[in-house]
Amino acid sequence: MSVTVTVADLNQSAPADEGQTVLDALLAHGIGFAYSCQAGNCGTCRCELVSGDILELEYSEHALSAEDRSRGIVLACRSQMWSDVVVRRLDAEEFVVHPSRVMRCRVAACSRLTHDILRLRLEIVAGGPFDFSAGQYAQLEFPMAPGVVRDYSMANRPGEKLLEFHIRIMPKAGSISSRVAAALKPGDMVKLSGPLGTSYLRAQHAGSVLCIAGGSGLAPIKSITEAALHGGFEHPLHVYFGVRAERDVYFEQELADLQRRFPSFKAHIVLSEAGAQAEQTLLPRRYGLVTEAVAADFPALAGFKAYFAGPPPMVDAASALACQRGVEARDIHADAFFPAAVEAKQTASMQ
Ligand code: FES
Repeated sequence: MSVTVTVADLNQSAPADEGQTVLDALLAHGIGFAYSCQAGNCGTCRCELVSGDILELEYSEHALSAEDRSRGIVLACRSQMWSDVVVRRLDAEEFVVHPSRVMRCRVAACSRLTHDILRLRLEIVAGGPFDFSAGQYAQLEFPMAPGVVRDYSMANRPGEKLLEFHIRIMPKAGSISSRVAAALKPGDMVKLSGPLGTSYLRAQHAGSVLCIAGGSGLAPIKSITEAALHGGFEHPLHVYFGVRAERDVYFEQELADLQRRFPSFKAHIVLSEAGAQAEQTLLPRRYGLVTEAVAADFPALAGFKAYFAGPPPMVDAASALACQRGVEARDIHADAFFPAAVEAKQTASMQ
């Protein structure tokens, strides 16, 4: 039997089969809707269920919290329709779609940022131009692992000549990232597909911004921060960069420079392990969990826009804190760092 799916804020409808997911039906009829994994893992397709009878397929708690679900938020890719359904996109006011590209890129530079994070800079050779919004990510396929893609966020600002990625080197022998770290060199070719993800800068937000990054999650936060500040954003913008120990800190100079140049910008570096203290640092050190530092600084966060990037437990804790302190769910943007989890799982299964 046939049913109908309607996107209320677009005032567009499409026919669908009973049992088809909302996302499948919309995409089949060319209706613009944000998505990424199509498997209930990323949360990109979150939307409000206005009316209708749906059956929800299994999804990750990282993609949709119980609190969001209780407010009527669902995942379009996991919602099978069993009646006419009406949904509404969560942030329709700044919904952007860039052309999807598959590009050949040449490695322009490849160097270490820390003991386990690689900075990769790519020059587009074919398939461009590449438009994206600060905070989005792309899928990279390396010559040492043909047919296997990994998701990495762009760390550069949109429009810059070189694309930059921060690759966390997974410690297990044989992981893709360790093979990349061992063998990738300038001149090698990398295939890039994207852009993907909806945790991108909402430049029209007229209020304060809170960014929390964990480890190489600094990449999209760097892009968002630089795009906002260089784009004329004048409201207070706070970046909390959480790492384990001193040796994991990177881009301190860049953060300090931004802080000096833009009075509205404040950067905090938070180490979760006390360890030996560095003698002289450009930015002061704080200790404990990065979310504890934010909680200590902000009794209330109502009206803030929040961007989080890092390991899923950090993103979960940051999202819970932001909700508690008054950030609206629609103002929380986060792509949890799933590549680490995926790669760790894959590496474990190879052993
Ligand atoms: Fe639906 Fe990723 S596209 S959760």
